[in-house]
Amino acid sequence: MGLMNNHGVLERHSLLLTIGILVVVSIGGIIQMAPLMYMENTIEKVDGMRPYTPLELSGRDIYIREGCYVCHSQMVRPLRDEVERYGHYSLAAESMYDHPFQWGSKRTGPDLARVGGKYSAEWQVDHLKDPRALVPESVMPPYAFLAKKKLKFDQIEDRLKVERMVGVPYTDEMIANAKGHIYAQADPDNKGFDYYDSLMAEYEAAAGREKTVEARDYDGDPTTITEMDALVAYLQMTGTLVDFSTYEADDLSNRR
Ligand code: HEC
Repeated sequence: MGLMNNHGVLERHSLLLTIGILVVVSIGGIIQMAPLMYMENTIEKVDGMRPYTPLELSGRDIYIREGCYVCHSQMVRPLRDEVERYGHYSLAAESMYDHPFQWGSKRTGPDLARVGGKYSAEWQVDHLKDPRALVPESVMPPYAFLAKKKLKFDQIEDRLKVERMVGVPYTDEMIANAKGHIYAQADPDNKGFDYYDSLMAEYEAAAGREKTVEARDYDGDPTTITEMDALVAYLQMTGTLVDFSTYEADDLSNRR
């Protein structure tokens, strides 16, 4: 029993003990990580995922700025109660354009990974303005000021370029027309009219399917593009890009 006899040596030398701990702990890490190095791709490709439109991306930035993730996760786990409550469990591909991802771990409020289309845009606006008017027991803070703040997007082209640097496939078209695309999505029959077709064509081509971009006035005030427009555009898109009526899990039996 040499190991048992020499145990005292390890326990009396903190450096030896530290090295011992590192060796033992890294075994678990290697077992988890090594197989990933040999896989061609760890994110299964699915149809429908596309880069966020500039309006949605701006809304996502507001979501992060306001700390919505402090109370809301964005990951439906593959457990029966979650799937029954929120819908299909989240796929890795669904956050492939999220930098940083919003999976989160704190659920003071419900998971928001599939909140898109669950309510009307009007509901979202009313709820954000005054959560307790719609859900009396809510502890969510009100965000009415978002409807009064004009959305700033004078640097939206650079914002898209930064996303492209980290791997989001924004095309030159998308970057050059970013401002026009914001007008086209938030106020389709007015200032952005000339950019409407380009918005739809560019993002539908990226998604590989139609009707993944909704264009409308979101906050009930068509004269101004507000932070509320952007945030609600983001929420209404969240979790809707993948068409689950055609999606089949890529398990080992049907791997192409
Ligand atoms: C202090 C915690 C807290 C913060 C911060 C917070 N929420 Fe909530 N949220 C809640 C709670 C609790 C609920 C459930 C009650 C309700 O519907 O108001 C909720 C509900 C929601 C719902 C409805 C979800 C559903 O499926 O019914 C949406 C959408 C939402 N929040 C969006 C946001 C956004 C966007 C932000 C940031 C601007 C935010 N929340 C910030 C706590 C929070």
